[in-house]
Parts: sequence; structure tokens; C-alpha cells
Amino acid sequence: MANDSQLMDKLVSLCKRRGYIFQSSEIYGGIGSVWDYGPLGVELQRNVKEAWWRAMVHERDDIEGLDAGILMHPRVWEASGHVAGFTDPLVDCKACKARFRADQLEESSCPRKPSVQPGEYRDCQLTEPRLFNLMFKTFMGPVEDAAAVVYLRPETAQGSYVNFQNVLNAGRQRIPFGIAQVGKAFRNEITPGNFIFRTREFEQMEMQFFVEPGTDDEWFEYWKAKRIEWIQGLGVRAERLRFHEHGPTELAHYAKRAFDIQYEFPFGWSEFEGVHNRTDFDLRRHQEYSGKKLEYVDPMDRDKRYLPYVIETAVGVGRTMLALLADAYHEEEIEGENRVVLRLQPRVAPTKVAVFPLVRKDGMPEFAEKLQREVRAAGLPSFYDDSGSIGRRYRRQDEAGTPFGITVDGQTIADGTVTVRHRDTLRQERIDAGRTVAHVRELIR
Ligand code: GAP
Repeated sequence: MANDSQLMDKLVSLCKRRGYIFQSSEIYGGIGSVWDYGPLGVELQRNVKEAWWRAMVHERDDIEGLDAGILMHPRVWEASGHVAGFTDPLVDCKACKARFRADQLEESSCPRKPSVQPGEYRDCQLTEPRLFNLMFKTFMGPVEDAAAVVYLRPETAQGSYVNFQNVLNAGRQRIPFGIAQVGKAFRNEITPGNFIFRTREFEQMEMQFFVEPGTDDEWFEYWKAKRIEWIQGLGVRAERLRFHEHGPTELAHYAKRAFDIQYEFPFGWSEFEGVHNRTDFDLRRHQEYSGKKLEYVDPMDRDKRYLPYVIETAVGVGRTMLALLADAYHEEEIEGENRVVLRLQPRVAPTKVAVFPLVRKDGMPEFAEKLQREVRAAGLPSFYDDSGSIGRRYRRQDEAGTPFGITVDGQTIADGTVTVRHRDTLRQERIDAGRTVAHVRELIR
């Protein structure tokens, strides 16, 4: 599926049509690389975050949750190495004022002259590469001077490091244990793009697992396996997933070892999650810059003190959603007609049930409305649709990824049964209407 730009275009337009994802500030012509999640997008996003939180926090006793601020003390970013090291090498054009990533000159072209081939800079006057920091800056308080500069965090991880002792003590944890966070991060990316793949504002789901030095290699392997298992558990096809180990030039400034989990997106294999061995780099630097001891003292042997090593798992919410959407997208022919279907796993699908009265008469709307009220009261996101032929209504829900359709027809009025239509197999079964909620719950589990 590599470089399937047509598929990408179809996905982007489906996302807009069905209310998954809109371009930010669209009525003003949009703003670069920021996207808004619409009614279905926000449900999918919540379900992805919920699935991650459940697997990483609720189902374990060795990981605690945290929600740290986006704005942090500016020294945090000096200690973490982001002020000095979170940079891309850039080349400026003195003629047209455009900027290019020095390591991507071959693939880019002058934005002022779109007809020029990638790698050609005919009238450009390119400077030598210079380092450009990717952190967004703003000012805290009423005075806009250097002393008031703060950064929008480029990763959630630092909030977990500076709270290491707080969470350790409050959670009565012992090493090994982890801190999990879900939250926004910001990077002034030079080459954002590919829809929600690389944006300047995005959300991360990160977990920092603190371990005794010497046990880090073992935990690193453990978390690699756990994380690929998680995404497969959300229904992503195994053949579209692989590991990529970072070579020496790819390793971030904090990492001893790093693996990406890559997905085969329509534009090719790309990272959607990273598993990093960050050693004691971050805790050591925060200890040094803050002057506060961050050592762990083993409660069983108080002479045993050390700075823990950290195994980090870091995944973007948007990238996970893009992988799920790309993997779920199918076009197929059914009885001579084309249908587009999003085969999202019921657990993550935004709407679980659509309710359809077959026709708008003979008591069917009243029955269907009552049924939908019951479904809604049970906390199952649902959609009521009574317009157009039943076939067209099914197609709309297939495209939206709704796994189950409940149809109220003439027989319903006679014997109180409804049909349940399964999105993927098109199987239809008849059940007692009173069992709808219980039945759908069983199917989703
Ligand atoms: N704390 C480590 C860290 O931030 P990273 O590999 O730079 O590591 C982790 O980012 C994950 O965050 C990536 O695998 C990706 O899913 C997501 N991510 C990073 N930059 C992003 C961007 N500009 N847009 C969307 N997601 C991004």
C-alpha cells in the first residue's frame, strides 16, 4: 500500500464528510498542520485514550497516572537538553525567505515556485545550515522579556520526571514502577504534513517506567513486546507493523537505545510509537539542575541507593488514530454496488449502534425512538436515521464505522423483535428488542 496517495485523499475526504477530522480555522483558509476532531473523531480519540489508559494504568498495579501542566519551569528544558539539543538543521533562502530542512533538501522544493522539481532551487540563495529550536515559546505574566520566557512542552515525559519522588511516595510504589500521562505537546515542526501524522499541536500517551540499572535491557524488551501487542489488540493488521531500531545518527540526545514501532501508512512505513531506553539521563540532569536529590532508596536495604533508569513508551494519539483509520478503510463490491466501510473494532468505533425505523409510519418511528432512548441511557453512543432507503442508511453507517445497525420493521410491531445487522459480515439476526442493550454489550466486549 506504500505511497498510495489516492487512498490518503479518500481517507481525508471521508474524515471530513463523516465528521471525523476538519482542518483548523477552515473558514479563514486553515492554519498549517492543525486539525480539529469532529463529532466522530472526538469519540474515536476518547476511545483510543481510554484503551491506552486501561492497558497501562487500570489493569496494572505498577503504573500510576499523572496529568502535569503544559507550562513548566524554564529550567526544566535546560536540564532536559531541549533548549540546547531539540533542534533541526535549517537552510534559509535569502531571496524568497523560505526555510528548508538541511537533511531534506533533495525532497523539498521552493514553496514560491511550486512547478520547480524537488531538489531544484534555481533562483534561491541558500545559506549554510543553522540549528533551529523546535520548541514554541511564549511569555508568562505581563512582561514580555527574556526572564518571562516559558515553553509549550514538546513532550509530556518531563512532567513525569520532575514528579518522580511525589508519585513514588504518594503511590507507595517501589521500583520497578511507571508513571503514565496523556496530554498535549507542541513542536514547531519544519515539515509537518501527511494529514494528522505530523502536526504542530498533538497529543501524546507516554509512560516512563523506572527500573534498577542493570535490569533495563530486560524491561526494554518487555515493553517493546507489550506495546506492539497493544496496537494489534486494537485490530491493526500484524503485517502492517514492524520494529525499526534507531541507528547512532537517529538516536535522541537522551537515548541509549530506541526502537520505533512503524505502521505501513498509505505514504509508506513510518513511526507511530517509540520505545526508548533513556537511562538515568533525565533524572540525573534534573537532580543536577534543581539541586534536589532524586535517588531511589531501596526500602529493603537502605544502603542501596541509585538513580533509576527509565524505559519510555511514547505514542501519539493522532498517529494511532491515523493507523486505525487507514487499517480499517476498505472498499468492496456487494451485489454489484461499491461500498466503503471502516472496519473499526467495535471497542474503538465512535458510534456503536445505529437505529433505523424501516419506514416512517405504522408505529415504527415511535418504537425505534424508544429503543434508541434505551440504548442511549445505557451509555452506548448511537445514531438515529430515518431518511432515505434502508440500503443508503446502512452505507452511511458503514462509512462512519458503526459496527451494528438495529432495524425496526413490520415484524417488530407484531412480535417485538428487531434485526441486528453486522457491519463487517452483513449478517442479520433477529433478537427480542428488550435484549438490544445486553446483546450489543456482548458484541462489543
Ligand atoms: N518523550 C519521547 C518523545 O516525545 P518522540 O518519538 O519524539 O518521543 C513520541 O515522540 C511519539 O509522539 C511519536 O512516536 C509520535 O507518535 C508522536 N509525535 C511526535 N511528534 C509528533 C508530531 N509532530 N505530530 C504528531 N505526533 C507526533
